[in-house]
Amino acid sequence: MRTIKLTISISVFVIAIAFHVTTSVGLMEASSSDAEASHAPGTLTFNKDIAPIIFQNCAVCHHPGGAGPFSLLNYQDVRKRAEQIAVVTESRYMPPWLPEPGYGEFADERRLSDKQIEMIRRWVKDGATEGLSSDLPPTPKFNEGWQLGRPDLVVKMPEAYTLPAGGTDVFRNFVIPIPVTTMRYVKAVEILPGNKKIVHHANLLIDRTQSSRRLDAQDPEIGFGGMDVVVESESFDPDSHFLFWKPGATPWIEPDGMAWRLDAGTDLVINMHLQPSGKPEMIQPVIGLYFTVQPPTSYPILLQLEHDGAIDIPAGKEDFVITDELTLPLDVDALGVYPHAHYLGKDLQALATLPDGTKKWLVRITRWDLDWQAVYRYAAPVFLPKGTTISMRYSYDNSADNERNPNHPPKRVVAGNKSSDEMGHLWIQVLPRARGDVRIILQEALMRQRLRKYPNDFMAHFNLGAALQSMDRLDEAISHYMEALRARPDNVTALNSLGTAFQSIGRLEEAISYYRKVVQVRPDYVDARYNLGNSLLTLSRVEEAITHFRQVIQIRPDDANAHNSLGSAFAMQGNPVQAIAHFEHALRINPAHADARENLKNVRAQKAKD
Ligand code: HEC
Repeated sequence: MRTIKLTISISVFVIAIAFHVTTSVGLMEASSSDAEASHAPGTLTFNKDIAPIIFQNCAVCHHPGGAGPFSLLNYQDVRKRAEQIAVVTESRYMPPWLPEPGYGEFADERRLSDKQIEMIRRWVKDGATEGLSSDLPPTPKFNEGWQLGRPDLVVKMPEAYTLPAGGTDVFRNFVIPIPVTTMRYVKAVEILPGNKKIVHHANLLIDRTQSSRRLDAQDPEIGFGGMDVVVESESFDPDSHFLFWKPGATPWIEPDGMAWRLDAGTDLVINMHLQPSGKPEMIQPVIGLYFTVQPPTSYPILLQLEHDGAIDIPAGKEDFVITDELTLPLDVDALGVYPHAHYLGKDLQALATLPDGTKKWLVRITRWDLDWQAVYRYAAPVFLPKGTTISMRYSYDNSADNERNPNHPPKRVVAGNKSSDEMGHLWIQVLPRARGDVRIILQEALMRQRLRKYPNDFMAHFNLGAALQSMDRLDEAISHYMEALRARPDNVTALNSLGTAFQSIGRLEEAISYYRKVVQVRPDYVDARYNLGNSLLTLSRVEEAITHFRQVIQIRPDDANAHNSLGSAFAMQGNPVQAIAHFEHALRINPAHADARENLKNVRAQKAKD
């Protein structure tokens, strides 16, 4: 008997950020100001002191074809903008890096030290001299093509999208079908966004159910709008990787055993933040996929904390706070973090409180800026033992003083997908320490937490039901499916799942009544019809069962299970010829179908006896 489990989960990003060729810089040493003081005015030169800072921290974006609006590759370039460089480094606007130092250690940190900032300030103040050419380090070189070498598969967005010349930033999602015919394991993805000057960041989402194509079809233009996309999923298939692109980042290669699965028929959805340039621009990103034959052996999961339901920010409110928390049911290592809010976000905090009371910061951003959002990977995995509570606390500034406020004058803002709405999300990639795939236990904790926030929420009840069902806690699963159906009485997925739960505990009449309801609402819901047929067959209601199996086969002629079930029904009816034909058909479709093989043997033996 086949039980069909279904989950709808909010899908988000698949990882990929970068290590940068940047040194992690420490805080200013106590002695540094004394050391600086010993420099006579004018002793700092570009070639000796400033070029190393710029080449290492700025050139990655500020080179021809890079994300920055101008190059900073030689003395003339830098000299021309020296004053401005002093200002933007002093304010820490450049290089863009949001996390506060001391609140988590990240692998790809790109921050200037206080000492470096001071050196730039002095160099500018003292006349910005060039110095000896022998002191100049080699000019960095940048390869604009694939950073990881030739990909195993290159896919291009089917049609280019034209970004209008002006207006506000555009957040757009493009569906890219992936032409693989067999399942592959992906160890890295590279995104060539095309025009780097207008693409601020990009996220990839994996859509295994092609649900995004519907959204695309509903939108007259290419792609569909919105900043935060929900991808549907039909089985517990949680998002487990961040697939994120930001300018200047090196593509991420998954560690051994952490490749992700790419099925035939999967779409990738690229979620892009685009900034108009003053003239119409064509956008047609290209994605490179790097495969491995190593199947995954470690199963990370993205835990989401959020409290969008609490976001209702009065106009003018300066310090509006939302919180959420999650207590971990297992030992995990946190690998990376992705905080997300829109333009009103101000102070974003994520803190872990361990069972012994110790506090560990997971990230803190005191000057949130959506434009520079990113995934941050920890320099070393952060161990969070079972019983740790992760808490997020985000504050928002909806006053006129917030220069990024999209509304002038400010107005009331609630949660939503548009950039003028707000969001409060924190994604943490964790790897459970237990062997095997134990993510379902985390899913249970996440959904129970979701119920605390939203007691009547369909998704929370449904997903919790599915998690409990897969752990064979069927009575609990049934009561959550029923709650889910109270929220959405005609939801066929929940009706079918409830049917499978009843079927598993042998309450077939109830199972049958739920399956019947599904096929009334959606006659082409083949899984429910198949389950209905099997339940009827178990009750020896053979004729009815045959009708349903025939309908399944009409829609899915290559469904080996349906042929096997139909064969069984004919066998029960005393029709071995038809039975054999369907078992054989099942075996032609799937030669490894053990049940069909066994059934075929039995019916042939029976027939020989007769
Ligand atoms: C991750 C890519 C990136 C890095 C690294 C980076 N920049 Fe920028 N920079 C940009 C982009 C994109 C812009 C234009 C958009 C903006 O101003 O927000 C910019 C703008 C600037 C500006 C103009 C600011 C203004 O107000 O118009 C200056 C000056 C600048 N960068 C200097 C630097 C310096 C100096 C460094 C290194 C210490 C640096 N940048 C590192 C991407 C980068």
